[in-house]
Amino acid sequence: MQEENMQSTVQTSNLGNYEEARKQFSWEEVERHFTWYANGKVNMAHEAIDRHVDEGRGNKTALIYSDASRRETFTFEELKLLSNRFGNVLRQHGIGKGDRVFIFMPRSPELYVALLGILKTGAIAGPLFEAFMETAVKDRLEDSGAVALITTPQLLGRVSREELPELKQIIVVGEVHSGEDLISYDDEMRSASDELEPEWLDREDGLLIHYTSGSTGKPKGVYHVQNAMIQHYYTGKMVLDLREDDIYWCTADPGWVTGTSYGIFAPWLNGVTNVVRGGRFSPQDWYSTIERENVSVWYSAPTAFRMLMGAGEQVHEQFRLDSLRHVLSVGEPLNPEVVRWGWKAYGHRIHDTWWMTETGAQLICNYPEMDIKPGSMGKPLPGIEAAIVDDHGQEVPPNHMGNLAIRTPWPSMMRTIWNNPSKYEEYFRLPGWYVSGDSAYMDEDGYFWFQGRIDDVINSSGERIGPFEVESKLIEHPAVAEAGVIGKPDSTRGEIIKAFIALREGYEATDELKEEIYRFVKEGLSAHAAPREIEFKDKLPKTRSGKIMRRVLKAWELDLPAGDLSTIED
Ligand code: WTA
Repeated sequence: MQEENMQSTVQTSNLGNYEEARKQFSWEEVERHFTWYANGKVNMAHEAIDRHVDEGRGNKTALIYSDASRRETFTFEELKLLSNRFGNVLRQHGIGKGDRVFIFMPRSPELYVALLGILKTGAIAGPLFEAFMETAVKDRLEDSGAVALITTPQLLGRVSREELPELKQIIVVGEVHSGEDLISYDDEMRSASDELEPEWLDREDGLLIHYTSGSTGKPKGVYHVQNAMIQHYYTGKMVLDLREDDIYWCTADPGWVTGTSYGIFAPWLNGVTNVVRGGRFSPQDWYSTIERENVSVWYSAPTAFRMLMGAGEQVHEQFRLDSLRHVLSVGEPLNPEVVRWGWKAYGHRIHDTWWMTETGAQLICNYPEMDIKPGSMGKPLPGIEAAIVDDHGQEVPPNHMGNLAIRTPWPSMMRTIWNNPSKYEEYFRLPGWYVSGDSAYMDEDGYFWFQGRIDDVINSSGERIGPFEVESKLIEHPAVAEAGVIGKPDSTRGEIIKAFIALREGYEATDELKEEIYRFVKEGLSAHAAPREIEFKDKLPKTRSGKIMRRVLKAWELDLPAGDLSTIED
């Protein structure tokens, strides 16, 4: 039975004939892979880890973790037992199904154990990027109503506990001093049992919440459910092309959706060895990771590829990179130039993939077997219908720009925006379609080409930043009267954040003040949200209702006509 299942799913990865594959495809076929298809007992952590132990792959390496100071490997069996222990720790503190449990820590084996342990209890995991500062952390914990947090002594200072009445437990990985009302990860893991029956769930029960940015309002809690695993598994096999002996490396942090969907779920659902590299980016460090671990499938992002390209051949030529078989990219437009350079530097075409936090998994991709058109995001997966539609939901002809939209539903689609159902509804304003907020066109061969965002969302180094969150922080600074934030094109990072600021009476527009404001955002919100460029203005363009017109700021910046100004204040 098992053998047969593997067989049928392996074949779907052969997309030699794209149209044929689309016709034959059914999600139900993919579902047969899961143990719950037969017994109805659903739990992501079981499918990703425990089942491999049950099926005799317990001794296979699941995780290779390394950073500048350590390198450790864990088998599927070891991860099963460790996450069982952590699940028991959580249960002893009363945590169970549906509770929101957040993780705020740098990449480490403990982060992965904690996340799996959370899922085993049926709780909903909320991973937070380690660079978040106090306001960003508070907003997310508050909105989600998190009851527990796993963090480190170094990051604890950014958690404003007094303002978070619902946050009952804080588990600290690292040294804990007695009397601090904190739970020690090490102490409790030591005494916890490594036997645990996971919480058996329904496919529509919660999996995780990822916060992401829109153009207005605070970050949105994108809520995903267990059912997403169908698409994580399938795209892992078909798009990442994962095979039994692969060593796979996804460079994203689990604080972002790529770091969970493709840094945890896709590889482990496919039973593949997963590499995690902690610490900061450097070309040498990354290439030596590929060389040392014999990475065969590598999933990264355009900004990183552009930086590697910028480092020059003398760098990649020092490393043996011939273990690579398949290289992929996500998160921002992948320049044709970078695809061509990758072909020369690594002997592999970099395969672009398109998707979003909200979509939970890849939707439009360049498959291994497909002819790549450099600069195109590829074609929709079998099982996915994508189209370019106008503002009334009518499909537009090939080569015409419009809204990139996806026919609803698909397995990994978000199920709501936490605490904000009306925001959720906005994505489905055109009947039958999910509206991505990206503009694109489709060519006559069915390839999709990204053109830009329709809203004001900024994409800097592949990270999505909402201008509103940055503006809100900026006006907390005593010198700032008004602030408007836009993305300014940048050859390495895609975009950088630029802030236009009107100062309060009595403040002088100096470089020191720019520096101070930059640090204020960096230390209050996060480094990636801080404006690398600041321009002082006497006044900012506003609508009569007082809304700052970012569109006009952008036009100033790019030296473009400002368009319709009929709603401007004066
Ligand atoms: C952009 C990351 C061009 C796009 C998984 C989308 C891309 C947003 C691509 C989602 C791509 C993602 N080419 N742009 N291949 N992939 N984007 O939620 O604007 O962090 O809407 O998800 O990134 O960013 P998010």
